[in-house]
Amino acid sequence: MLSRQIFGAVQRRAFSASASQASKVAVLGAAGGIGQPLSLLLKLNPRVSELALYDIKGGPGVAADVSHINTKSTVKGYDPTPTGLKECLTDSEIVLIPAGVPRKPGMTRDDLFNTNASIVRDLAKAAADSAPNANVLVISNPVNSTVPITAEVFKSKNVYNPKRLFGVTTLDVVRASRFISQLKSTDPANENITVVGGHSGATIVPLLSQSGYSLEGSTLDDYVRRVQFGGDEVVQAKGGAGSATLSMAMAGARFAESLLKAAQGQKGVIEPTFVDSPLYKDRGCEYFASNVELGPNGVENIHPVGKITDHEQKLLDVCLQDLAKNIEKGVKFAKENP
Ligand code: NAI
Repeated sequence: MLSRQIFGAVQRRAFSASASQASKVAVLGAAGGIGQPLSLLLKLNPRVSELALYDIKGGPGVAADVSHINTKSTVKGYDPTPTGLKECLTDSEIVLIPAGVPRKPGMTRDDLFNTNASIVRDLAKAAADSAPNANVLVISNPVNSTVPITAEVFKSKNVYNPKRLFGVTTLDVVRASRFISQLKSTDPANENITVVGGHSGATIVPLLSQSGYSLEGSTLDDYVRRVQFGGDEVVQAKGGAGSATLSMAMAGARFAESLLKAAQGQKGVIEPTFVDSPLYKDRGCEYFASNVELGPNGVENIHPVGKITDHEQKLLDVCLQDLAKNIEKGVKFAKENP
C-alpha cells in the first residue's frame, strides 16, 4: 500500500496532468536498451492512451510485460510480419525511433552510419506510408544524419512536414544541466542549460552564458568537453555492452510528454530539438538544434541562438562546419539509396 502511494506520488509529479484526449504512441525498436525503459516510462504517462511497440525481435514480449502495469493505456506488441509495422504505425500521433545499433568504446556516432542509415530509411518509409501526419522523433544515431535521411524519405513520398520531424537532443540538455549543477552545487531540477547545434561531439554547443554562468579556463573547457562527450563516459563504463539507455529513455519520454502537452493545448512548451531550421541554412545547415516552442501542429516557433560569448561563437563555428557535412552525408545517402 505504502509503495503504491509513493509510486503514485512519483507518477503524479513526473506527469502532472490527466489525459484529455486519445494519443497513440508508437516505439520502433521497443525491445532495445532504450526501447524498453522508454516503453515503461510511456506506459506511466496518462497522456498516452495506446502504446504500440515494434521491434524486429521481442516487441510482443516487452508489450506483455509493460501491459501489466496498472495504468489505463492499452499496449500491443508487433513483430515484423507483413502487416506488423503498418498496424503498429497506423493512427499514431507520435512515432519514436530508437531502432539501430549503439556505439562500442572508441566509436563515434558517425561510425554507426553504415548500419543505422538503412534501418532509419526503411522505418521512415513505413512511417511515411502509414503515419504521414505523425510527429516523428528520431533517436537513432547519428541523429545529425538520420534526421535528414528521414526528411528525404518523406519528401520523396510527398508527405514531408518540417513541423513534424524532430531529432531528439534532449539528453544533451539533461546532461548539461546535471553537470553544471555538480560544479555549482545547485539543484539540477532547476537548471535548464541551452544547448544548440547537433547531437555528436563538437556539434553539441552548450550556451552557459545564457543561464548567467561564466566558467573560465580549464574549468570551462572541461565542462564543454564533458557535455560534448558525456555519452562516451557511459559507453566506456558499459565496456562494450552499449551506450546511454536509461538516461536516454528519460530524455525521450520527456520530449514525447512535451509534444503531448503542446498537442493537448498547453502553451509555452519549449524543448531543444534538431529540426528543419532557417537559422543556419546559409551556412549549409538545413537542420539545427535550438530551443523550439511546440504546439498542436508540432514546431510552433524556432528560437534563434541569441546573444552568446566569443568563446561560444567559436564553438558554434566549429559545430556548423561538422554539422553541414553530417547533414550532407545523410541527404546523399537517401538520394543514392532510395
Ligand atoms: P540496442 O541495440 O539495445 O537496441 C536497438 C533495438 O533496435 C534492438 O532491439 C533491435 O532489435 C532493434 N532494431 C534493429 N533494427 C530494427 C528495425 N529495422 N526495426 C525495428 N527495430 C530494429 O540499442 P540502444 O542502446 O537502444 O540504442 C538505439 C539507438 O539509439 C542507437 O543508434 C544509439 O546510438 C541511439 N542513441 C541515441 C541517443 C540520443 O541522444 N539521440 C542517446 C543514446 C543512444
